[in-house]
Amino acid sequence: MNAVVLVSGGGTNLQAIIDRIADGTIHNTKITAVISNNAGAGALMRAEKAGIPAEVVSPSDFEDREKFNMALLEKVESYAPDLVVLAGFLVNIPPAMVKRFAGRIINIHPSLIPSFCGKGFYGLRVHEAALKRGVKVTGATVHFVDEGTDTGPIILQKAVEVKDGDTPEVLQRRVMEEAEWKILPGAIDMIATGRISIGKA
Ligand code: GRF
Repeated sequence: MNAVVLVSGGGTNLQAIIDRIADGTIHNTKITAVISNNAGAGALMRAEKAGIPAEVVSPSDFEDREKFNMALLEKVESYAPDLVVLAGFLVNIPPAMVKRFAGRIINIHPSLIPSFCGKGFYGLRVHEAALKRGVKVTGATVHFVDEGTDTGPIILQKAVEVKDGDTPEVLQRRVMEEAEWKILPGAIDMIATGRISIGKA
């Protein structure tokens, strides 16, 4: 199964996928490209170190959002992916791309959807909101991407304990280590081994 991974940040989720493919936890999967909207994304270095083609499609290189959307779709299509993985990708997926890859785009979100998700809930903001609400348990979710934001069918979730004195940064790290870096590779392997059919969780 050919996977294209879209990234915006440090790439720790990408690294987890690379490592799980290397140790055989993820079966019959190849990352054919890593694409970022952010030329400075640390994830690009991780791709290069792993010998994976890494490309940037940056909104600032296009005169309007429509042109960026088209360029992103064309770039992803050029790698003919069976699966598109959003691993900390902070750009809204254009509707044309959701349609083109219907049921074949998955996303990792750092909360137990439907809590702390939707517009404006990304990165540290998710954990700030969880701490503000005072939840005792949070976690991460892998879901199929549909036209909405964090609204598609849920594939896997993993709970993580919130501890007294947690800061957003400490909680984010625990959610990444104990949940994100496990369930994103897990979901990819489920799809790669046919344990869930594309588009139906
Ligand atoms: C992190 O906030 C993570 O929780 C979310 O995306 C952000 C970047 O993760 N999934 P990564 O290190 O770039 O994978």
